[in-house]
Amino acid sequence: MTDDQPSRPAHVPLAGVIGMPIAHSRSPRLHGHWLQRCGIAGHYIPMPVMPEHLTEALRALPRLGFVGVNVTIPHKEAVLTLADSVTDRAALIGAANTLIFRPDGKIHADNTDGYGFIANLRQNAPDWQTDAGPAAVIGAGGAARAVVASLLDSGVKEVRITNRTRIRSEQIKAEFGARLVVYDWAQAGNMLDGAATVVNATSLGMEGKQPLRLPLDALSPDALVTDLVYTPLMTPFLADAQARGCRVVDGLGMLLHQAAPGFERWFGRRPEVDDDLRRAVLE
Ligand code: ATR
Repeated sequence: MTDDQPSRPAHVPLAGVIGMPIAHSRSPRLHGHWLQRCGIAGHYIPMPVMPEHLTEALRALPRLGFVGVNVTIPHKEAVLTLADSVTDRAALIGAANTLIFRPDGKIHADNTDGYGFIANLRQNAPDWQTDAGPAAVIGAGGAARAVVASLLDSGVKEVRITNRTRIRSEQIKAEFGARLVVYDWAQAGNMLDGAATVVNATSLGMEGKQPLRLPLDALSPDALVTDLVYTPLMTPFLADAQARGCRVVDGLGMLLHQAAPGFERWFGRRPEVDDDLRRAVLE
């Protein structure tokens, strides 16, 4: 064996999450629950990695027996340039959250956030239809990009987008194409008119932050409203939408579902996203 071909200990597969800070990540609890449920003798470890150590860490982890890692802030963009292969969706979104270390040491990067977003809606609002009407996305950060990509991919014909910093939504339209319609932040309430799906992809509403407050007069009670914020589960925005009669889906399911493809690739079993898992992650 040469230095370029890392050995992989065959017995206990290791995975984890790299980021900074990492102490509050719920991923170890999530994957730990699945490992236990599936009876897999593996480990999932939170690892604080500074940006200046990212390259070194990615070189070392496969050699230490890691089969892959999740990636979180601030490394989601940088890992794309370090990976040997990148899925189309990760390239389009401009960020990866899941890395697979191949037996030959090559790193494959994917983004499962959009998958998690759609899977959460399908599980918790089974009659949700992608052709029911336009979607309205509030926010234009990394999470919003994944949501927009997945909505377009699922067949939603028009995706409206608004953001405090308008240039970021213009940039998404420039990259994602003609099915995007940009609304000014001051006109965000108008964007809800006729929308069948409404998504808060900003961090507003998170514990300790201001709530997201939009004029909801134009929001139809037939719309499905969801929030990527899951602390608290019932954000002020979801509570307002529910008070108008809308179906609401909280954001925790997206976190749970985005983790499933990585677990399956690393540990060889497709895990269940169920109430037990929700409870384990919320504990
Ligand atoms: P993420 O990757 O989680 O999406 P991000 O790229 O930092 O994180 O994006 C955060 C989103 O929340 C952005 O849409 C941001 O708006 P700006 O692009 O204008 O910064 C939005 N956001 C955060 N704080 C906000 C606030 N106080 N008011 C309005 N939007 C806010």
